[in-house]
Amino acid sequence: MKHIIAPSILSANFARLGEDVEMVNNSNADWFHVDIMDGVFVPNISFGFPVMKAIKKQAKKPLDVHLMIVQPERFIDHFKEAGADTLTVHIEASTHLHRTVQAIKNLGMKAGVALNPHTPVEALSDILADIDLVCVMSVNPGFGGQKFIENTYRKVSKLREMANLENPALHIEVDGGVTLQNYKQILDAGADVLVAGNTVFSSQSPLQTIIELKS
Ligand code: DX5
Ligand code: ZN
Repeated sequence: MKHIIAPSILSANFARLGEDVEMVNNSNADWFHVDIMDGVFVPNISFGFPVMKAIKKQAKKPLDVHLMIVQPERFIDHFKEAGADTLTVHIEASTHLHRTVQAIKNLGMKAGVALNPHTPVEALSDILADIDLVCVMSVNPGFGGQKFIENTYRKVSKLREMANLENPALHIEVDGGVTLQNYKQILDAGADVLVAGNTVFSSQSPLQTIIELKS
């Protein structure tokens, strides 16, 4: 299975966002990873609908939207309208996760569920068959450029075993601290989507870095 690279727009230069979106359009990357933070679920605020719509207008690849917000069910139709192709909510933020997942899918989006570093993958056992993607957080969400948490490998392998039984097509995405040094080990553990913010956008040659991550 060829893996997917999703550069995280959080690490882009917001004063020149159009140029960075264009770079991703012209690269070997597959998706745009779009981080939405509300200052409540995580101790940071990123950006909202107007910025996301501007990205969508220019993007030639799907938007993989990661909601780090409380009560994400309030905004599902807004995110559809703003151009989300995959919509991922945190298990820790969604009381009625099954209903939320169905609402996302009913609007024609792919549904993802994200797990904080302390949340066991077993918490997904009764929703795994219903979802398209699991985002395994390999840092505590809220900021780009943090250090990868090593326990993630174990979580990803376990999750891939669970998925092989329940949902073989499941995307397993690893988000946070992905580098040119650890990406192979992450893929070997069973992930097939790599989010990379700092590694791509702080690199001398983002295009070349994406080629390497994709190799
Ligand atoms: C963290 C975000 C990540 C972040 C990844 O809360 O969910 O998507 O942008 O950035 P890096 O790759 O720099 O750790
Ligand atoms: Zn993210």
